[in-house]
Amino acid sequence: MPFQQRSAQLIINLSRLRNNFNVLKNKLKNERILATVKADAYGHGIIPIARTLAQSGCNCFGVASFGEGITLRHAGIRKPIVVFIPPLPNEIKLFRFYNLTPTITDINTLTLINKKLRRPMKMHLNIDTGMGRLGFRPEDYSVLFDTIRTQKKIVIEGLYTHFYHSTNKRSVQQQLNRFNTFLHAWEVQRPLPSLIHAANSVASLYTPASRFTMVRPGIMLYGLSPDNKITDPSMQCISSLRTKIVSVRTIPAGTSLSYLARYTTKRKSIIATVAAGYGDGIPRALTNKGRVLVKKTFAKMVGTICMDQLLIDATAIARVQPGDEVVLWGHQGNKELSVHEHAAHADTITYEILCRIPRQVKRIYV
Ligand SMILES: Cc1ncc(COP(=O)(O)O)c(C=O)c1O
Repeated sequence: MPFQQRSAQLIINLSRLRNNFNVLKNKLKNERILATVKADAYGHGIIPIARTLAQSGCNCFGVASFGEGITLRHAGIRKPIVVFIPPLPNEIKLFRFYNLTPTITDINTLTLINKKLRRPMKMHLNIDTGMGRLGFRPEDYSVLFDTIRTQKKIVIEGLYTHFYHSTNKRSVQQQLNRFNTFLHAWEVQRPLPSLIHAANSVASLYTPASRFTMVRPGIMLYGLSPDNKITDPSMQCISSLRTKIVSVRTIPAGTSLSYLARYTTKRKSIIATVAAGYGDGIPRALTNKGRVLVKKTFAKMVGTICMDQLLIDATAIARVQPGDEVVLWGHQGNKELSVHEHAAHADTITYEILCRIPRQVKRIYV
């Protein structure tokens, strides 16, 4: 692409990524780390993120689909890759070809793999302890054990479960109890495989009993968390979304701004037009709620957020002019605007804000 399509840029600080990874590593004993890099590494760009983590000593990667796994293989990533979404029957051979580790979540697929392949294949089993999305449930255990005993091409390398509310200690404990019950039942039949995993970011940090032999962090590697209260001060957000002011106008009191006239100036105001909108991943729900940083000063978003533009009230900012940098999140001088703040105003989670940034927004790695 010879030119940048959008004015907004996502600046990604890879040394912060390395730092966040090391902070976690130092908290662990010798559990392995599977870095969750699905959805283009939560919008940060799967290849540079995975390369940086691989160089930092990350043991394994977790992706949603085999396509993401293939992207990593084409980029030269040789570490194990676990694909969380189970394969459809016609995809199994691709897993073998690209040396991707499938997650298997039902008996039919296990039997099919055994039938289709000539050589044994390593896989992980997802155990549904409460997430209610994918995986083997207690009523499946006895058929599962029989199937594994009889089907020789199935090699179970990993067993895992996933927490549905990792910031809630009670539900995490309940799911851990169910997972441990499954593991004990397994052990009665055969030795446990080498990779047992359950912990996402929050559980990796705060529930040591969930670490087993591998942890599966995602959001905290990117310096964020599901909940603003659960942040480790030594981890920092690795991204900053920035753009520019393109117009500054003095608008009389009583003037309505932007689509649907959802904001009317209460006094004579300096209104700046910012080159970013929902086409750059800024939730439209931030209309009249969100803030930005300009000249190290917070300014409120006013009027409906448009596809490519949004308006801010810059009355309190001295000498604001076209070309001035606008920080949509990240630092400006000693001030910081967090993704958490936008997520709260938009009634969503930090994950969604990150994943919404379209590919046309250039990623710049520093
Ligand atoms: C199966 C699985 N493991 C691990 C993670 C990482 O979770 P988090 O980003 O909360 O650390 C996810 C993310 O949704 C997931 O789906």
